[in-house]
Amino acid sequence: MPGLRTKLVVYTVLIVFAVAGAVSAISITLAHQASVAAFERHATVLAKTLGEAVLEPLYELNVKLMRQQVGSVLAGEGALRVMILDAGTRVLTDGTDENPLRGKEFNEPYLRQARERAEWVTRLQDGVIQVAGPVQATADRRLGYVVLEFSTARLDAEWMKHIRLTLLLAGVCAGLASIAAVIMASWITRPIKRLTDFATSIRLGSAMRKIPECGHDEVGRLADAFTDVLNHLDHSNAELKELANSLEQKVKERTQAAEAGNKAKSEFLATMSHEIRTPMNAVLGMASLLEETSLDEEQALYARTISESGEALLDIINGILDFSKVEAGKLELRTAPLDLEELLSGVVRMLAPNPAESRVALRLEYDPEAPKNIQGDEGRIRQIIVNLVGNALKFTEAGSVTVKVTGRAAGGMAKLRIAVTDTGVGIPEDSLEKIFTAFSQVNSTASRDFGGTGLGLAIASRLAHLMGGGIEVQSVLGKGSTFTFTCALATAEDLVTG
Ligand SMILES: Nc1ncnc2c1ncn2[C@@H]1O[C@H](COP(=O)(O)OP(=O)(O)O)[C@@H](O)[C@H]1O
Ligand SMILES: [Mg+2]
Repeated sequence: MPGLRTKLVVYTVLIVFAVAGAVSAISITLAHQASVAAFERHATVLAKTLGEAVLEPLYELNVKLMRQQVGSVLAGEGALRVMILDAGTRVLTDGTDENPLRGKEFNEPYLRQARERAEWVTRLQDGVIQVAGPVQATADRRLGYVVLEFSTARLDAEWMKHIRLTLLLAGVCAGLASIAAVIMASWITRPIKRLTDFATSIRLGSAMRKIPECGHDEVGRLADAFTDVLNHLDHSNAELKELANSLEQKVKERTQAAEAGNKAKSEFLATMSHEIRTPMNAVLGMASLLEETSLDEEQALYARTISESGEALLDIINGILDFSKVEAGKLELRTAPLDLEELLSGVVRMLAPNPAESRVALRLEYDPEAPKNIQGDEGRIRQIIVNLVGNALKFTEAGSVTVKVTGRAAGGMAKLRIAVTDTGVGIPEDSLEKIFTAFSQVNSTASRDFGGTGLGLAIASRLAHLMGGGIEVQSVLGKGSTFTFTCALATAEDLVTG
């Protein structure tokens, strides 16, 4: 896209050249017409003078004298042909000694016109100017005619010279005008360019607000308007920034308030659960003591119900306590050397269903390459595994539950993957994320049969995060699920085993 300057220059130059061309054409045509007219007048005067000079020789029919007169005109004026005709338009002399046309009738139309109207006639044809007119002794007595022919070659040569000169002049003028156009275009577009550069610098983030000098014309007024807009924008920007700051501040305050509220709630829960646990333990202790006394069948049932309900309640309270501790950021992991394989074998032994009562088999597959001796919080790792394996057993009616351990140790760190795979009911895809939030169970009716609070996975996944890993789940509804617990823990190579 050509710039404003280029357009201005191109259009101006085109106009200048068009005007110069038109003016030259008109001037050349007019000059040509004027010079032809002047030459025709000159030729007529010459012819008339010759007519007067040959009056007497014609009267006397002195051809010799006529030839002399004609010859002097031919020599002096560079005429193409000069002839004297008698009253019957027959050639008397053409000025040459040979006089080849002598006696021949000369019957050109222009001569006819001169003859009929008794007047001087001029005509321009095929580069020849022809003049003819009568020679009268008296008003009623015509002695003959004079015919003169001139070539326009000289006239044309002069005309060509004139054309060349005019074109040269026009060219020079147009050239000068073009240079002036270039200078003027730069002069006009310079302030616009300055303004554009300034606008570009603003767009690129310049903080500079001093607008360049753009004069007092339209561009100047545009620059003033631009300054106004800029000031207005700056003002609006400042206001927006202020608004954003105050909003940010408000959000911060509210977040802090919400966080403080959340923390207070968790602390309250933690304290409450702790406070409930103490009397609860006493209730449980007393119930078990009561069961050991001699009771009749009905009393024994009541005492067992107290024990079982108390255990369930304690489970829930422990869950709430753990969850609120993690949420309040108060849960700290212990670090001690442990043998992971031994730990997992213990859990599997403890949870393995009685083959006589259950159709589910529980297995442990420990990859020999995976590290065993690590440093971590034994109790919390057990809690996670017990929950995952417990869930798997809880939601699997028949088949197997497999605990598979893989992992590598590098640079003093053990990266472990403990996958618990079952062949149970599975979890619908849209619930896969939900099950990690507190108190959420996929199918409340089913869970009611199995028991539980919906806190287990929420706690386990938070604990896994604290161990530098997490818990992922993959499941196909009706086919089974795999919960993978990952963690990154320090190795304990020099752990004394056995
Ligand atoms: N292995 C599994 N198979 C099917 N559903 C599962 C499995 N593990 C967890 N779930 C679903 O996730 C829910 C939440 O589990 P969890 O947080 O351990 O709570 P709870 O065991 O107390 O119900 C369960 O109620 C169940 O709906
Ligand atoms: Mg559970």
